[in-house]
Amino acid sequence: MKSEQIGPFQAKSSAAPYVIAHRGISAKAPENTLAAFSLATKSNGIDMIELDVRLSSDDQVIVLHDRTLQRTSTGNGAARNYSYAEIAHFNAGSWFHGSFSRERIPTLRSVLELVRGKRWVNIELKSDFLHREQRGVLEEKILQVVRECGMLQQVMFSSFDHHLIANLKRTNAVSITGVLYNLYRDFGRMPSKLAGRAGASVFVCAKQELRKGMIQDAHDNGIAVYVYTLNSVEDVQKMLDFGVDGILSDNADDIVTLVKGS
Ligand code: G3P
Ligand code: MG
Repeated sequence: MKSEQIGPFQAKSSAAPYVIAHRGISAKAPENTLAAFSLATKSNGIDMIELDVRLSSDDQVIVLHDRTLQRTSTGNGAARNYSYAEIAHFNAGSWFHGSFSRERIPTLRSVLELVRGKRWVNIELKSDFLHREQRGVLEEKILQVVRECGMLQQVMFSSFDHHLIANLKRTNAVSITGVLYNLYRDFGRMPSKLAGRAGASVFVCAKQELRKGMIQDAHDNGIAVYVYTLNSVEDVQKMLDFGVDGILSDNADDIVTLVKGS
């Protein structure tokens, strides 16, 4: 990758869509672990990794999808109730396969250090409806880590919570941002409206919710469209025909040839 380039975050910047490893190569290694991200850096043709972030009790930015620990680690209960030192004890790999027993829930910093200069990064800010963070806290902590890693121009921040994205953009105007579509809340609103009011340049949508008219609207307004989570040839082919700009996949390494040609 060319680190100064911001191609993946612009609409129609490439003939082929960008290939994005959803939670790393999460079909072949435990999601959101260094093992899954490392695989993505070693697989040719993958442009970007996607990961989910939230906070530990001592405000460390950790890479974890669920609010609670038990699905993907040996921990139990809300991650926000544990310090990172405590979280680092939990085994985050054995639930997937015994060979990954050394994996831990990583900090955002450790993942960025692993992929810096190799892949772009989509940082998805997790926000739990009944457990919202105090305004600005999550955005500030994440921006601090990304800035310290010198990766502000290699990262796209996205969230289902568009207030977080708008606030992050207000705090740091040069941030590249995306909004995630929530069918129940956003139905009837076009990508240009949703992205526009949050100051975002990317619209991210689930495959079953994306319509051709939404892509047209986004592209007419210079907004890139990413779609998740495409793991089968049929799904990828359909979205190639739709003309999306980015494809999130759990097995990103397997779809590269189909997306970009051999
Ligand atoms: O960012 C796209 C996708 O990751 C959103 O859903 O639940 O996989 O984080 P989820
Ligand atoms: Mg995600």
